[in-house]
Order: sequence, then structure tokens, then C-alpha cells
Amino acid sequence: MSKIVILTGAGISAESGLGTFRDEGGLWAQHRIEDVATPEGFARDPDLVHEFYNARRAQSRAAQPNAAHFALAKLQKEHRGDIVLVTQNVDSLHEAAGAQNVCHMHGFLDGALCSSCDTRWPAPPVMSKTRQCPSCNAQTTRPDIVWFGEMPYHMETIYHHLSEADLFVAIGTSGNVYPAAGFVQEAALSGADTLELNLEASATISQFAQAEFGKASEIVPNWVETILR
Ligand code: APR
Repeated sequence: MSKIVILTGAGISAESGLGTFRDEGGLWAQHRIEDVATPEGFARDPDLVHEFYNARRAQSRAAQPNAAHFALAKLQKEHRGDIVLVTQNVDSLHEAAGAQNVCHMHGFLDGALCSSCDTRWPAPPVMSKTRQCPSCNAQTTRPDIVWFGEMPYHMETIYHHLSEADLFVAIGTSGNVYPAAGFVQEAALSGADTLELNLEASATISQFAQAEFGKASEIVPNWVETILR
């Protein structure tokens, strides 16, 4: 049976009320990336960065998965081949919809990390620079989020899955940020078919063999039904 590797982006969570980054009025229109999503920004003003992620964590925890999240969880359960779900998103809506083994390549809001000893633990609702690491007690805790300039997580595993994919599907991502934006080429080079499901054409649309445009809550369940038929 076919192995399908799926990459999701902020667009899959848009209809759950979580803002995307580059759409009109998106997160990067409200905050400077260099201030809230880089190690330098965190070193310069940890309070500002914690405030930014505390607000996103609260919003993310209050959000509900939408039909697209549920459809991918159903695909994982019912597809007879392998389904590998990689997300750039830091919300936990895939898990809330019942998905398993979600690969969070950019980390996740529900995780906390100690910059001194690399210990990870479940993030409290509100993080601050004075919070001590539960393991080494240093006051060097940060959200377990991959910032610009840092290496995304699980890259080796992701490239391995891409090399074995029969189909690569990108859902709700603008294709602006590497290495995720390069996955379609990796998969195609290994002979995979490629499909983009998005509200509008991404920056890498020309590298996809097929595309369907529309709201994720509509086109993702429809696509899943065709696969499970
Ligand atoms: N249904 C489907 N797609 C949607 C919807 C929707 N309802 N709403 C928006 N989209 C699409 C947009 O057309 C766009 O292509 O989702 C995409 C969102 O793009 P971005 O805001 O750039 O988000 P993303 O691609 O996930 O960003 C990648 O950039 O800033 C970093 O780390 C951050 O993980 C993020 C990465």
C-alpha cells in the first residue's frame, strides 16, 4: 500500500481561529520576526518573547481542531499504507483531533526547554525568564520552539520518509520557509507524486504535479475520502 508523507502549515489551523504568518494581518504583520522568533531576539528581550508565546499558547489551547485535522487523523487510522504527518505548526490541534506520532519540526507551544541543560518538559500556561529549569534550576527556560537560524527537529527522519514516499502532500503552507519548502523537490526526486492543498498557490506551486485550492476544512476531507475509497 502507498506511503504518504504529509506536511502541514499554518493554513490548516486558520479555520480553528489561529492566525497564519504571511496572510493579510498575519503574525508577521503584527510582530517583527527578529524580535520574537530568533535566539538573538530572545537574548535581547526574553520578556517580550515569553509574552508572545504565552499569548499564542493560550490561544492554541483554546482552539478546537477543524475538519481538516480530523480528516488527517482518520486517514492515519484507516489507510492501509504508512501515513507520516510532519507539521511546521506549533499548535497541538493534530493531536487534539486524534493524530499520532505527529512530527513537530518547528517544536511546539506545549513544550518547554532549558537552554543550559537541554531538559524538556510540558510547558506551563505562562512561561517567564525567572522560571527555573526543573532539572538544573538555571533560569534559562525557553519555549521549545525552533527559531529562525536554528535547525528544525527530526530532519534526518523526515528526509528518510521523503525518500520512501509514494505521495507527498503539502497542506496550508506558503512554501516560503526552508527546509520545509524544499520537501516537495526531495520527494519528487525520489519518484513520489506530489499534491498541494492550499487556499491559494504557494511559492513552490510549480514543483507540485497536482494542486487543489480551497479551504482546508473542505478540500482536505474530500481528498482523504478519495484516498480511503
Ligand atoms: N485553508 C487552507 N490554506 C489556508 C487557509 C485555509 N483556510 N488559510 C490560509 N491558508 C494558506 C495560505 O494561502 C498560505 O499559503 O496557508 C498558508 C499560510 O502560509 P504562512 O502564513 O506562510 O504559514 P506557513 O507556511 O505555515 O509558515 C511556515 O514560517 O514563520 C515560520 O515557523 C513559522 O512554521 C512557520 C513557517
